[in-house]
Amino acid sequence: MSENHDHHNQSGLIAFLGSMAFVFVFFIYIVFINKGVTLDEKVQDAAPVGAPKFELASVKDPWSGAPEVITAGQKLYAANCAMCHGAKGDLVGGIPNARNLVEGQWKQGDGLIAHYKVVQNGIPGTQMASFKASLKPYERWAILAYIETLTGNKSKDKPEDVAAFAEKAD
Ligand code: HEC
Repeated sequence: MSENHDHHNQSGLIAFLGSMAFVFVFFIYIVFINKGVTLDEKVQDAAPVGAPKFELASVKDPWSGAPEVITAGQKLYAANCAMCHGAKGDLVGGIPNARNLVEGQWKQGDGLIAHYKVVQNGIPGTQMASFKASLKPYERWAILAYIETLTGNKSKDKPEDVAAFAEKAD
């Protein structure tokens, strides 16, 4: 009876030591060996090997609608504008007193330059705030380039006029 009991304890002890050893090895792995995965690494992994990393800040004409700028603008739009203007600019999922950016006339003026001024200064007395402090100029241009892809009422501003305006705009 007592022999049996000892035997039982012994295998329990082996199992216990075994699991402690596993926990120890796992701990060593997590703390010292595994480097973890950062968001940056994931993003870089997604880019083809050897491809230069895209930097919106270094694009000279972020209003002109290069595909990478549009993609960046779409993300910035989703984070900063969609809650009021709707995910696709058509007020669906937005707030009713914001403006439909897809159809209808522009109330604050046509074209990229007029839209830039709205995003830069806001519209006093409305929920449309200034994004001067929260978005860099090139981020605002990227958003507007994305909106150009949604709207039926596209900008007729000449690229050289936009460039000249952008030179001075803060
Ligand atoms: C908190 C809600 C809100 C957010 C966030 C918001 N807007 Fe607006 N926006 C409005 C409202 C409301 C108006 C209309 C004001 C009015 O004319 O009464 C407006 C108007 C505009 C207009 C003028 C449209 C026209 O008819 O000329 C533009 C362009 C615009 N917003 C772009 C943006 C962009 C780009 C962003 C993100 C960077 C943004 N808005 C974020 C609420 C918002």
